[in-house]
Amino acid sequence: MVKEKHDMELRPNPRTGRYRLISANWKMNFNHLEAIQATQKLSFVLRPADYSYTEISIHPPFTDLRPLQLLIDSDRMRFSLGAQNCHFEPHGAFTGEVSAPMLSRLNVTYVIVGHSERRQHFFETDDIVRAKVEAVFHSQMTPIICVGETFDERQRGETERILQTQVDSAVSFLSPELAERCVVAYEPVWAIGRGASANPDDAQQGAATVRSVFESRWGKAVASKVRIQYGGSVNPANAADFMQLDDVDGLLVGTAALDPESFARIIQA
Ligand code: 13P
Repeated sequence: MVKEKHDMELRPNPRTGRYRLISANWKMNFNHLEAIQATQKLSFVLRPADYSYTEISIHPPFTDLRPLQLLIDSDRMRFSLGAQNCHFEPHGAFTGEVSAPMLSRLNVTYVIVGHSERRQHFFETDDIVRAKVEAVFHSQMTPIICVGETFDERQRGETERILQTQVDSAVSFLSPELAERCVVAYEPVWAIGRGASANPDDAQQGAATVRSVFESRWGKAVASKVRIQYGGSVNPANAADFMQLDDVDGLLVGTAALDPESFARIIQA
């Protein structure tokens, strides 16, 4: 059984029936004291109604997970705890790595898998991403599977093929019950951390391609349950444009999520 942490008051999007999910990927920022401060500030600036429309997950560095777990639990904050990565083995001689069961014990709900920065700087292949998806589900958590084309791949007209390959490789082995629980983040690599997002048409097209992979393997019923996020230079001014798209159910936010006030404005958009 995958842990379901949907807030009782959380309402699905009436248009799609899917729960919206907006996630803060802090990347390698904030020590544990800064993480506590940022989370307290976010909780302070959000209004109760903000939690009714969107599930909010916070993905800090590993060293911040335990303090944030305690903070969220003790103050009954309505945030889901997320991680940015995990190893695919449950334990063993893998110096410096953190496993999915360790994260699960910290009440982590979502684990980002296959972020483009990990594919690029840490040489994560589609096979490794697939193994991590399996490990995350095995520990009753939900993967946020990141996919996206580079600038050169887009220039060469390969966007659709790249997305299909990355998604299919990451999920093809799943049962329909697990497939429909996946979260996929479409993050065009060229739009990450640059202040220039994709335009909404491109984001919709990428998200629709992701959904079509699920549809061709498992049919419409499964595909219509998969949640898809857009990521890449999301900010308070453009967030609403992405959230209105047919196939986009949420956002994966980097830079703008480091400022609790701007992240709150994204949630409220
Ligand atoms: P930015 O929001 O800084 O572009 O980062 C996006 C991202 O990589 C989230 O995972």
